Amino acid sequence: MPTERRSLIMLFGATGDLATRKLYPAIFNLYKKGNLKEHFAVIGTSRYKFDDEKFRETVSKSVSEKGVDKKLVESFIKHFFFVTHDVTDLDHYSVLKEKAEELDKKFKLEGNRVFYISMAPNFFGTVAKNLKNQGLLTEGKGFNRLVIEKPFGRDFESAKELNDALSESFEENQIYRIDHYLGKEMIQNIEAVRFGNTIFEALWNNRYIDNIQVTLAENLGVEERAGYYDNSGALRDMVQNHIMQIVSLLAMEQPVAFKDTDIRSEKVKALRSLRVYNVAEASTNFVRGQYSASGDGETKEYREEDGVPADSNTETFVAGKLLFDNYRWSGVPFYIRTGKKLADKFTRVDVVFKKPLVDIFSFPQDGNTLLSPNVLTIHIEPEQGFSLVVNAKNGEQGFHTEPVNLDFYENSQRTKATPQPYERLIHDVLKGDGTNFSSWPEVASAWKFVDQIRRVWDIQQPMFPNYIPGSMGPVAADELLARDHREWIYKLNQ
Ligand SMILES: NC(=O)c1ccc[n+]([C@@H]2O[C@H](COP(=O)([O-])OP(=O)(O)OC[C@H]3O[C@@H](n4cnc5c(N)ncnc54)[C@H](OP(=O)(O)O)[C@@H]3O)[C@@H](O)[C@H]2O)c1
Repeated sequence: MPTERRSLIMLFGATGDLATRKLYPAIFNLYKKGNLKEHFAVIGTSRYKFDDEKFRETVSKSVSEKGVDKKLVESFIKHFFFVTHDVTDLDHYSVLKEKAEELDKKFKLEGNRVFYISMAPNFFGTVAKNLKNQGLLTEGKGFNRLVIEKPFGRDFESAKELNDALSESFEENQIYRIDHYLGKEMIQNIEAVRFGNTIFEALWNNRYIDNIQVTLAENLGVEERAGYYDNSGALRDMVQNHIMQIVSLLAMEQPVAFKDTDIRSEKVKALRSLRVYNVAEASTNFVRGQYSASGDGETKEYREEDGVPADSNTETFVAGKLLFDNYRWSGVPFYIRTGKKLADKFTRVDVVFKKPLVDIFSFPQDGNTLLSPNVLTIHIEPEQGFSLVVNAKNGEQGFHTEPVNLDFYENSQRTKATPQPYERLIHDVLKGDGTNFSSWPEVASAWKFVDQIRRVWDIQQPMFPNYIPGSMGPVAADELLARDHREWIYKLNQ
């Protein structure tokens, strides 16, 4: 039986792309499942001159997929209200406050408030400050929680400035920094696989693991996001947040309990032992790329995309080697890569185990092949599942081994029923569970690491473009591993 969550959700940026595409469907799913029932209300705000009626039409459209129960949508949208509001105008906050108080009484919300800022990041600090100063935070038994979208700063300094601004109004445990990767089913499954299985956790260290590989590949280019993307690049857009979060889940020690505070503290400890590179190490251990045009003329090169300057040195691809200086991981590289216009769209983690120290089956004179390393692959998307490569006898005359795959994939029905990241994350906010959000110490450590790479790249001239669409990035990304006598587990044409 789902627990009903009682709250007012005040949404800043209610007419924006994220709200209409992701947030309303996510809130509707919580309503369908009974996590939200009678005791919730949403105040949408933006400068747009909407009334409740028009706003409800927008929300209704955004949740009305084929086969939707129309009566349910009707009752759902009655919980939505609109206040035209410019976040920079102090006078507007009193209207918002009155509306919040009215709805609190009407829906018996007990002073619980979620403030969701789905706006450009330069407004995050302003909104947080004004919410407090203009008396929108409730006092007494209700909760006040602030949800912040990405990006959280563009380097450590700007992130700290933003965090200082938020901290004037909200405590750290009231701030939920969204990293939607943390809402994905298989990312959350990393903890289940590691800490729920002796066969993995017992081997999860530098005695048995040779290296770990994390790949977040996209086959699209920048599409309509060129303005944002060219200012950011793959390092800031993907590595600082999503990849560092995944890596910290893979590298952390077992938390004392499966509780947000315990998990966060282990992730922070792991990130603090991540080696921050000096200039020479950053140049050697990180590779950047930018896509060229495709040979068939189908795809433009990055520098020719609409909104991208012709001399842009923004990277659309990053690969790197991360090293943890701690007892568990000393000597085990974590290789990461992400990029646009790659061969396919997928996210996966490959945990590559060491080969047995002695290979008693290797009879080169008989043409037998060497044992393969065991590889545990966590398929995060689009398929959700695991595969484990083990060596087995190949069933033929004589004694020959071959690698075989043990696979488990979620079936499409179950995958369809799995909550989408925003549904899961909004539910966590309503529950007050910060496990799947980035805490400030995590964000700070990630920026300190990434800033060092950025510093080096900002003074070195890249040789762009350097990879073709449909590939897995520049040759240098393969060389990064070849230098260590390793290779990427996922290669083209597998
Ligand atoms: N879209 C995505 O898929 C996506 C994915 C991940 C993260 N994000 C993050 O989510 C946030 C929102 O993105 P978005 O794509 O939804 O942006 P967007 O489409 O540009 O929407 C921005 C919203 O802010 C409102 N707004 C702008 N200035 C305002 C002001 N002075 N006072 C009040 N409201 C104002 C706009 O409405 P008016 O112009 O009517 O005021 C609009 O509702 C950003 O931080 C973005 O980085 C977005």
